Amino acid sequence: MSRFPGLKDFNAHSKRVLMRVDINAPFVNGEITDDTRLRLIAPGVQMLVASGAKVILCAHFGRPNGKIVPEMSLRPLVKPLMKALGKPVAFCSAPLGEEAKRAVAAMNNGDVLLLENIRFIEGEEKNSPDTARALAELADVYVNDGFSVSHRAHASTEGVARLLPAYAGPTMLQELEALQAALGAPKRPLAAVVGGSKVSTKITLLKNLVEKADLLVIGGGMANTFLAAQGYNVGASLYEKDFLDTAKQIMKRADACGVQILLPVDVVTAKEFKAGADYRVCAPGEVASDEMILDAGPKTVALLKDAFAAARTVIWNGPLGAFETEPFHQSTVAAAKIVADLTKNAGVVSVAGGGDTVSALNLAGVSEDFTYVSGAGGAFLEWMEGKVLPGVAILEEKETVAA
Ligand code: 3PG
Repeated sequence: MSRFPGLKDFNAHSKRVLMRVDINAPFVNGEITDDTRLRLIAPGVQMLVASGAKVILCAHFGRPNGKIVPEMSLRPLVKPLMKALGKPVAFCSAPLGEEAKRAVAAMNNGDVLLLENIRFIEGEEKNSPDTARALAELADVYVNDGFSVSHRAHASTEGVARLLPAYAGPTMLQELEALQAALGAPKRPLAAVVGGSKVSTKITLLKNLVEKADLLVIGGGMANTFLAAQGYNVGASLYEKDFLDTAKQIMKRADACGVQILLPVDVVTAKEFKAGADYRVCAPGEVASDEMILDAGPKTVALLKDAFAAARTVIWNGPLGAFETEPFHQSTVAAAKIVADLTKNAGVVSVAGGGDTVSALNLAGVSEDFTYVSGAGGAFLEWMEGKVLPGVAILEEKETVAA
């Protein structure tokens, strides 16, 4: 990974700094229910404020598709943002244009201004040169501290970075470093855990990991598709008939690459999928036609324990069972605790990401014990798939040009 220029690489004093952040946080009845993304941007904003910059925050909320949608205004985020930053935050009810220019002109060094939802502008998602130019006119310098939106090639993540001196914010740098340690140049053996319900949504991910990992643990509903591809009767379990061949190809490729695939050796089944349902544990070959596989069993967890203990790096995306409905949380929670323990006591590097995975780690109470837990959803997945993230690539490209 080339060195990304960061906040330490320029003098921000009295500069207008346009900072792209991702504060697209869950909002229920006018209240933020999780302020993690707001807290994540605090270090960068505070560093810039301390250097006497004028910090102009550019962000989106939801998907208004280039139209003004009042319910998607960023205004209600001002208060929680002030709390997270420990600083007053002014709000400009236009994302760019004359009103935004006036708001920026009124700023003093050390001030923070939040611009209205940039996705109210049609050119944002189209990455239109006009929108990028209008954003660039507001500032002297551009900083991207929103890794979780950097898989989008939008005017505020990519276009504007071409027009101004561009830097990575501290949270972005931390995320890139953690991902590099997990997948770019990992300490081996590297164990990758891929769970979730569908093979179809994770084909690219599985194909990338089968080339890079030493061990691939497959769990969740997608493991049913792999078991079915091996010829097991999975009863009434969810699985994807149309992806049996894909599963076979991935297993074949794993063989050719010398990568071990670990599938459940025992499964938790039930006739009903509901909290507190009666369940039993059996071998994959013993699932009755009216039973669903809803979790991996204790023998599988024991195998995982040995496999993780032999690994130096573990990356994780997706739960191993239907963890949101007890009692089908058990293998996911047990595996998360094993990885957390190895991280704390045996120096294993553990990186996890994706909405469900973060919820599962929270349920297990081990989010703090992993080496790094990414708050990014789509961006984390695309990075794991080996895709180029446009908002990251442009920062890298500019550094290459400057070098
Ligand atoms: C996210 O929540 O993952 C980011 O804010 C990106 O949002 P998007 O999927 O609407 O581009």
